[in-house]
Amino acid sequence: MPDDILKDIESEIIDSKESAEAFRVKYLGRKSGKITGMLKRIPEAPPKERRELGRRINELKKRAEERLASFEAHLHKPDATGPQTGIDLTLPGRFPAPPGSIHPLTHTLNEIARVFEGFGFSIATGPEIETEWHNFTALNFPSNHPARDMQDTFYLEPDRVLLRTHTSPVQIRTLLAEQPPVRVIVPGRVYRNEAVSYKSYCLFHQVEGLYVDEGVTFADLKQVLRLFVQALFGGDARMRFRPSFFPFTEPSAEVDIWWSDEAVPENGRWLEILGCGMVDPNVFDAVDLDPERWTGYAFGMGIERIAMLRYGIRDIRTFYENDIRFLEQF
Ligand code: DAH
Repeated sequence: MPDDILKDIESEIIDSKESAEAFRVKYLGRKSGKITGMLKRIPEAPPKERRELGRRINELKKRAEERLASFEAHLHKPDATGPQTGIDLTLPGRFPAPPGSIHPLTHTLNEIARVFEGFGFSIATGPEIETEWHNFTALNFPSNHPARDMQDTFYLEPDRVLLRTHTSPVQIRTLLAEQPPVRVIVPGRVYRNEAVSYKSYCLFHQVEGLYVDEGVTFADLKQVLRLFVQALFGGDARMRFRPSFFPFTEPSAEVDIWWSDEAVPENGRWLEILGCGMVDPNVFDAVDLDPERWTGYAFGMGIERIAMLRYGIRDIRTFYENDIRFLEQF
């Protein structure tokens, strides 16, 4: 008889508080539990067998109690899920996910934008897939003129559509969409078919600037760029304007800043950071603005170049690799 009951005890399903309680009443209940009943009847057995019978019934009892205990333990296991576990799910995790950081290019762009917004510039944008007319022709690059070689271009066949080589076409788009006075900066991604190396990549980022109004002079351009350089590189930054050429500005200049390592001042040198100039009358013609009335200046700079200088980054490719060890330093 105890052997049959052992089988029952082992095969009973205990999967809820209710079935556990039913199990307890059925086997261990004080009044009608099967095991309790057997214990009560021990005195009825022949005296010689009582001792052995008592031992076997006690084993059953132990086994039944073990099954209940193991169900209880499962119920309170710390990694069990669900509302009955007693775990406070609102507590913060033990290993919070590390926060991301702002990409150094975004960081540099934000700072540049903040300076020019302080000067009253607003932000304009344009498409990365551009027409040859906006990217070159309207900016006074004659077709078949060697000036187009300055920017090796990815053409998208067919139809004179290309990946823009600079943010300058947004000058054209802005002047076609708005009547002057216009004062915008244009951050954006540009593409060139360059041999990839530590200093050039097939894509990079620029910030363009354009100011068009009546009576704008080169002195205005010098002033705004001087204030910009001081805001970004510090009040004692040294800069110079060097004559240059761009088809869409006349006269044109490039701005260099003096870059030196305090530890080795003799290694100091001039580094170019942007191109600029007075808007060429042919550009005003292209967008149907009267060049006798309107004047303006424009400038354009590479964001990677400036971020590399400020953070001491040697290889432009590190910006695009998304190596977490690089990114988490910013
Ligand atoms: N678009 C020129 C480039 O990518 C940079 C530039 C030079 C922009 C002079 C300008 C400018 O607006 O006035 O090389």
